[in-house]
Amino acid sequence: MPLVSMRQLLDEAATGGYGVGAFNVNNMEQIQGIMEAARDTASPVIVQASRGARAYAGDRFLYHLMVAAAEEYPEIPVALHQDHGNSPETCISAIELGFTSVMMDGSLLEDGKTVAGYDHNVAVTREVVDYAHARGVTVEGELGTLGGIEDGVGSGEVHLTDPDQAVEFVQRTGIDALAVAIGTSHGAYKFPRRPDGQILAMRLIEEIHRRLPTTHLVMHGSSSVPARLTERINAAGGRLRPAFGVPVEESQLGIRHGVRKVNVDTDGRLAITAAAREALAADPSDFDPRRFTRAGRDGMRDVVAERMRQFGQAGHAGDYAPRSLHAMRRAYDRQAAAGAAA
Ligand code: G3H
Ligand code: 13P
Ligand code: ZN
Repeated sequence: MPLVSMRQLLDEAATGGYGVGAFNVNNMEQIQGIMEAARDTASPVIVQASRGARAYAGDRFLYHLMVAAAEEYPEIPVALHQDHGNSPETCISAIELGFTSVMMDGSLLEDGKTVAGYDHNVAVTREVVDYAHARGVTVEGELGTLGGIEDGVGSGEVHLTDPDQAVEFVQRTGIDALAVAIGTSHGAYKFPRRPDGQILAMRLIEEIHRRLPTTHLVMHGSSSVPARLTERINAAGGRLRPAFGVPVEESQLGIRHGVRKVNVDTDGRLAITAAAREALAADPSDFDPRRFTRAGRDGMRDVVAERMRQFGQAGHAGDYAPRSLHAMRRAYDRQAAAGAAA
């Protein structure tokens, strides 16, 4: 099946009461690992690429790898999503390339570091919604900022999402999905201890979902950073500090309160690194790179399959027929016409 709009995946997830993992990719092995996991668990899935991923792989390589994935796994509904678009130009270039969903992250300025004002966020997000919806493409916006700085991305300042402002933001921008800031951050070092309600504001999700019951919520920075993976990396020569991520039960709590997209990058990176380090260490005389890239791909598959089961998307791949982007565009047009008439 062709690449599917993310909006359809999230609408179906809302109907079914489950969450959909959005897994970051940079190369062929990560894409194959995710698709294998999707097949093994019969899951719809979101594959997402950051600006860094697009720069690393190259736009045409990345896009055509995803077309190959859709062809090789025709039974899996899969959306291709731009993660953390820093400007309308980035989002528009993704849409022109063939992405079926984009995130306009207007919570930061174009440098990806400086916290942006609310009006800037509304203006750039609205601009992307107008462009994307006219092409049937989904838009995720973000209100509030995550903590931490990963690969130079992020402000390092946490600004939790304000529920009142969230309602206004959704109305003014027309986004399909809202990323909320609840105290998480990207990367392996999210919390100095296992997070509780003091540092992870799950109550905000409940509050925002109560006020915006039909808006799909998104949790960024949702890797759980399993100790078994960091321990394996360190046992095979790595040097990671003890780290705490978002416990999967917290993501599941979010899913019970309107979270439909759960972003996971770091857990995949850890799984690949653990498996590749072990494979390299197992036979120092071997120089066939396929040995460690295959091990990494299998590691990615296993952690992604585990998350798919935990988020509840497993078993739902065959629930629905994909709608074309053209059909999605007509639906947005009808929605706009109904809004204008009201
Ligand atoms: O946005 C955060 C994701 O983990 C992507 O990270 O910019 O290093 O590709 P990246
Ligand atoms: P993690 O670093 O927790 O995997 O978060 C990924 C993410 O939010 C990508 O946008
Ligand atoms: Zn993110």
